[in-house]
Amino acid sequence: MAERTLARYLTEEQRNRGVITADLKFLIEIVSRACQAISIAIGKGGLGGVLGEAGSDNVQGEAQKKLDVLSNEILLEANEWGGHLAAMASEEMDLPHTIPNRYPQGEYLLLFDPLDGSSNIDVNVSIGTIFSVLKCPEGADLSTAAAAEAAFLQPGTAQVAAGYAVYGPTTVLVLTVGDGVVVFTLDREQGQFVLTQENVQIPADTQEFAINMANQRFWEAPVQRYVHEMQQGKTGPLGKDYNMRWVASMVADVHRIMTRGGIFMYPIDSKLQGQGGKLRLMYEANPMALLIEQAGGAASTGLQRILEIKPGKLHQRVPVILGSKNEVDRITGYHRT
Ligand code: AHG
Ligand code: MN
Ligand code: MN
Repeated sequence: MAERTLARYLTEEQRNRGVITADLKFLIEIVSRACQAISIAIGKGGLGGVLGEAGSDNVQGEAQKKLDVLSNEILLEANEWGGHLAAMASEEMDLPHTIPNRYPQGEYLLLFDPLDGSSNIDVNVSIGTIFSVLKCPEGADLSTAAAAEAAFLQPGTAQVAAGYAVYGPTTVLVLTVGDGVVVFTLDREQGQFVLTQENVQIPADTQEFAINMANQRFWEAPVQRYVHEMQQGKTGPLGKDYNMRWVASMVADVHRIMTRGGIFMYPIDSKLQGQGGKLRLMYEANPMALLIEQAGGAASTGLQRILEIKPGKLHQRVPVILGSKNEVDRITGYHRT
């Protein structure tokens, strides 16, 4: 049987299952091509002059790397001409990017973290791109970039598609259109994504956790309790030994969980209290939460299902606890007691 490329998967989702529209299919193909272009730029590394600082700050006050800026530009340019989008929003842009008048406007909104794991770029560790797709509400005011922000402020349950690319030893694209989770691997010779896994299911139990232990002294009681219990291993209340992994690229940590289970936590702590968390709701937490739930896992702030949060701001931050369902349920239980 012929290889199932991304184009073929999307065509079949559209034709046989009626899950997606022609415009959404086009949108995802365009995003996947942008991810291929980002993958090529990353692959050049020190030879392509793409490493190092850009010399600017983004809206979150973080120093931008050259690849943050380049990846953002690749995604913007790839997506603005096709007629499938009403506007785009990105970690790297203060305000949404509306579609220039010279191009037709479509019915979707695209959000992205163009380059996730920026601290890992220069050290040659896996990084990625995260994206989320919403429908633009009828009658939304897109006359200015500032006015357009309101159209994006929808809960994660409203996402019609979400995905991420991991640029690791191989480049993979993990996608949901609300019909389970599928994984494509980039065939570099052919220049296309080929389906390599369908119906991804995250094991409900795990013995692997991911958290930045350097923040331990700032954590709240439920997180202290849970991590302490995991560290006690077989002789503690959980009765099994755990291992720890922390890549510091959310895409890579989430991809490990997609592959073999685990729990990922970037919880609220006393240092992050003022900003509400570390990770951004609309283009980090929401797309990952949809993917994780579609693969049978769970995603919570500790107190609330991430996908049900009604956003107040485009760049809002949230606590994130996601992965194997029984472990997420355990720590959310600790938040309730
Ligand atoms: P970004 O590079 O897009 O700013 O995101 C980085 C995020 C996330 O990928 C990762 O899980 C986390 O920041 C790492 O934070 P620490 O450096 O605090 O470990
Ligand atoms: Mn990120
Ligand atoms: Mn980023």
